[in-house]
Amino acid sequence: MYVDRHPFRVLVGIAVLASALAADAACMEVIAHRGASGYLPEHTLPAYALGYGLGAHWIEPDLVLTADDVPIALHDSTLERTTDVATVYPDRRRDDGRYYARDFAYVEIARLRVVEPRPNRYPHATFHVPRLEDVLQLVHGLNRTTGRNVGVYPELKHPELQPDLADVVVAVLSRYDVPVRLQSFDAHVLAKLATDHPRVQLVRNATQTEDGGLDQIATYAAGIGVSSFALTDDATLVARAHERGLLVHVFTLRADDERRGRFADEVIGLAAQGVDGVFTDHPDQVLAALESMPGCAR
Ligand code: G3P
Ligand code: CA
Repeated sequence: MYVDRHPFRVLVGIAVLASALAADAACMEVIAHRGASGYLPEHTLPAYALGYGLGAHWIEPDLVLTADDVPIALHDSTLERTTDVATVYPDRRRDDGRYYARDFAYVEIARLRVVEPRPNRYPHATFHVPRLEDVLQLVHGLNRTTGRNVGVYPELKHPELQPDLADVVVAVLSRYDVPVRLQSFDAHVLAKLATDHPRVQLVRNATQTEDGGLDQIATYAAGIGVSSFALTDDATLVARAHERGLLVHVFTLRADDERRGRFADEVIGLAAQGVDGVFTDHPDQVLAALESMPGCAR
């Protein structure tokens, strides 16, 4: 991974300290959100491989458990939004009309094709739902063949529906030598994780980003993950997190989100605020925007 700023600071010397610090603030880690999901369907091996190839520093799988306790890469607790489950297994829906991953063995889920829910994105049902094990093999293998050291940054999804998820995931992670960060919105699950991997607390309410909330998070986590809107609402948040030794990672940057302004401006604005990393569907476009900033190399 590229974030090794200290040698750079030494080289630039005291005379250009101010500009060096500005450059430091510009460099951010790039996390391929659900893979390079702007280009290929989310949470598929090709999307992860593309994210890797486009230069992301971290690959993000969201994780849920199957009926036979296999952690798979899936955002939702159910399969109908992103797969053809309703066609392949029409009789397996619950009374609420939904198809829960927890009701299927992995061998059954492996028969499904992933479909892209966003209409302007990848149009074909080409790929399958991978296991965490597949994601780790992909990244570990690519690290071997490329000499890079890209990490895997899993999110523990829906822990209230699958209390065993954290332990199962930690056990699978222990079999692969790749950098790992773990993230969850669930503070209880994250705080009691039995692992040495750094943890990032995803936050969704304002109480967590008050001083007391950050103090609490800093007792177990290496960072926070926040919506970009949280930074718009609170210009002090990055500095207050950094004061407590917490990284700040922002979700989710999408270059095809028409509600936002120019993508590069958003990236540069976050970097200028001192944000440490971004989850993005378009890792290449984040890296391209960062390259326009002095001192911020890949
Ligand atoms: O995990 C950070 C970000 O991905 C959270 O949003 O809903 O895409 O998992 P979501
Ligand atoms: Ca996520």
